Amino acid sequence: MEKPDPPLRKRSLTDRRAWWLTASAATPGQARFFEGSGADLDLADLLVENAVGWMPMPLGVASGLVVNGVSHEVPLATEEPSVIAAVSYAASVAARTGGFAAGAADPVMRAQVFLEGSFPDAESRLEAHREALEAEARTHLTSMELRGGGFRRLSFARIEGVGGVVRLDVDVRDAMGANLLNTVAEAMAPSLEKALGGKRLMAILSNDGSGRPAWAEVKLVIDPDRARRIALASQVAQVEPQRAVTHNKGIMNGITALALATANDTRALEAAVHTFASATGSCRGLSRWTVEGDTLKGRIDLPLALATVGGSAGIHPTARMALQLLGNPDSPGLCTIAAALGLAQNFAALNALVGDGIQKGHMALHQRRAAWREEHS
Ligand code: MEV
Repeated sequence: MEKPDPPLRKRSLTDRRAWWLTASAATPGQARFFEGSGADLDLADLLVENAVGWMPMPLGVASGLVVNGVSHEVPLATEEPSVIAAVSYAASVAARTGGFAAGAADPVMRAQVFLEGSFPDAESRLEAHREALEAEARTHLTSMELRGGGFRRLSFARIEGVGGVVRLDVDVRDAMGANLLNTVAEAMAPSLEKALGGKRLMAILSNDGSGRPAWAEVKLVIDPDRARRIALASQVAQVEPQRAVTHNKGIMNGITALALATANDTRALEAAVHTFASATGSCRGLSRWTVEGDTLKGRIDLPLALATVGGSAGIHPTARMALQLLGNPDSPGLCTIAAALGLAQNFAALNALVGDGIQKGHMALHQRRAAWREEHS
């Protein structure tokens, strides 16, 4: 395809949309759908560059997910069939025994300032300048400190062949904190260069989520042989990395859909989770299921950094409605629901896999989709 001339960034939204319809060779049916989905084009234009419209994703609700004694209707944006039905089913099984217990850590994120150089006495130099550096960091974090968050730690580590990295840990409260941390990291770089004697290579937040662990547990009473087989299937995901990838993908079916419904950064979320799952050098399942007496016990541990204010989560009207539906949780509250959701999704997947398989339920949907395609092409 030839590059648009004039370039898209120099055209109006209306003009870009006309270009999109021609350039994508839209059929009349597709054009009708696209025109109908342009609810708030100005917002699309505000959120991204070269906007041409919206890519609407089905939004549904998984029902009755009981977490820490509270029942939630969970908004999920996903193109994948069965995800919402699976969570709703698992939620109904879990509700019989009190639902999920879950929690999430304080929302502390890390910024990294990488410095070139050799740092023979970095530790003593950092200690000598610590007070001033921490005070400077706080000047960039006053509004966050007013909200109960703000500066937490400053530390240094050497990096072979490069020099070192200064790590700034900040409690970002309910925000994702990417903008804030990038601002602080960039602003602090000159002082860090001076204090430690190196030269800035780059300054950016880390999407590593190990500082933000979340967890969920559930006890289920189901058919004993089914429970035994689910435990065995989860054991496979602990020792067989190719299965572990799929096991974890299923867990993220629900969590990523919740992240999308609340306009969170799904790429950051997935990067953190899959890195965590591979921390031993080999991918392992994020959840484990064991049989204890007549109970099937499940537990999931994973890093989650979901925001409830700021960024797109703070501006997208549908994301705002999704958060309102959940009772306006704070960030750890949303991560808590997400952890339970992941475990619910995992139970439903394993239960189907060691039972009749997942294809049976999918076939009717595939037929309905094929009929729709024919009618709308
Ligand atoms: C499909 O999207 C998800 C599953 O493959 C998850 C799993 O295998 O555990 C069913």
